[in-house]
Amino acid sequence: MRIVVIGVGYVGLVTALTLCRLGHDVVRLDDDVAKIADLRHGRLPFFEEGLDHLFEEGCTSGRLRFSEDPSDAIPGADVAFICVGTPGRPTGEPNLVAVENAANLVGKWATRDMVVVEKSTVPVQTAERIQMVLGRRSAHRFAVASNPEFLREGCAVEDSLFPNRILVGTNSSQAHEIMRRIYRPMIESGARYFATDAATAELAKHACNAFLALKVSFVNALGRVCEAAGGDVVAVADIMGADPRIGREFLDAGVGFGGSCFPKDLAAFRAESLRLGYRFGLLDEVVRINDEAVGWVVEKVRGALWNLEEKRVVLLGLTFKPGTDDTRESPALRVARSLVEAGARVTGCDPKASAGALEGMEDLAVTRDPYAAAAGAHCLVICTAWPEYAALDLARLRELMALPIVVDGRNVFDPASVAEAGFTYLPTGRPAHGLAL
Ligand code: UGA
Repeated sequence: MRIVVIGVGYVGLVTALTLCRLGHDVVRLDDDVAKIADLRHGRLPFFEEGLDHLFEEGCTSGRLRFSEDPSDAIPGADVAFICVGTPGRPTGEPNLVAVENAANLVGKWATRDMVVVEKSTVPVQTAERIQMVLGRRSAHRFAVASNPEFLREGCAVEDSLFPNRILVGTNSSQAHEIMRRIYRPMIESGARYFATDAATAELAKHACNAFLALKVSFVNALGRVCEAAGGDVVAVADIMGADPRIGREFLDAGVGFGGSCFPKDLAAFRAESLRLGYRFGLLDEVVRINDEAVGWVVEKVRGALWNLEEKRVVLLGLTFKPGTDDTRESPALRVARSLVEAGARVTGCDPKASAGALEGMEDLAVTRDPYAAAAGAHCLVICTAWPEYAALDLARLRELMALPIVVDGRNVFDPASVAEAGFTYLPTGRPAHGLAL
């Protein structure tokens, strides 16, 4: 199958490499000439475990090409995957100009009937819009399919190569047949294939992310009650998670969710529901609790240090979760901003985050070495659950710091060990050690 993948972002790159692994001829199209040039020179735009290997495999297969020219990339293609960005507008609604532009390009340059696949996360009824654009542009016949992506950053390659489900929504039986052919090896190895209409698939993607975010906010609200009552949210989550109807995943209390998906998708789903005449108030509450989680960590630092002026606070972890270099919408940066505004001197520490990508916090001092960062600091705040932080030498940290205070926004430490090492320890949703706020 000849496939053109439009958009060189995260999902676009992983999708293209996966399709190539499945044996298809893939052209990646983007008007970002610099990014295309980087890819041609073998340079990946972001870190993701295993991506370099998959990339190398694609490049040596001879089935993967890069192009900035639609008149070269689109003619002859059977299928186009639209993987362009859909940034949020201030109203929460996504900006779909890039999706419309991609559809226009396909309509303009198609040389045969095609299946056009929306992979980007888009509001319900976008498939109809794409169909309308294509119909205006070309005399060829197009079937539009929604094929949402469920991969997680940090394990994107694994999720993409071994998906637990493949969702395709289209009103065309022929398109279903073509999509089944594209994914045949995965379906044969057991991935469940859901065939729906386009609107159902578009809604299902939003429903999944909104529900996962709901779980995180639920456990964070629960954590507040546990803290007030002297209970332990980790144990409560374990008990809840033992019930297969609930499940343990996404019940880790902490400083909240971030990233390029949950915050944006929640805003989009709220706006979309409102447009359709339903106020999805539950989602408003999910967002409010998430904002509160950041504020609560900052309050704990303030409570432990009293005046923040002339105090140095070290944030351990800047990425929105471990296993990625992505700091977009990271709760850590929100904590950093609040602390700086309150007068604290803040140092960020992260094994992967690049200092250049700190959205509005470019001045933040960033280091890779937690011990160097801790020297002379008054408080450590764990913002990302990097496994290496759980293994830190607590006695060494205790000696280096000006004050022995740890605010654990991800519950990475064993409370007894931190207390034993002489720290005042303020975890999330669990009893504090050494200091009552
Ligand atoms: C999320 C979904 O999990 C993917 O299925 C989806 O494809 C993707 O969005 C997307 O729409 O593109 P991702 O943003 O990579 O994936 O990150 P998650 O692993 O879902 O974590 C999201 C946030 O929730 C992180 O900030 C994480 O730290 C936080 N989280 C997660 C918690 O605070 N507690 C938990 O128990 C779990």
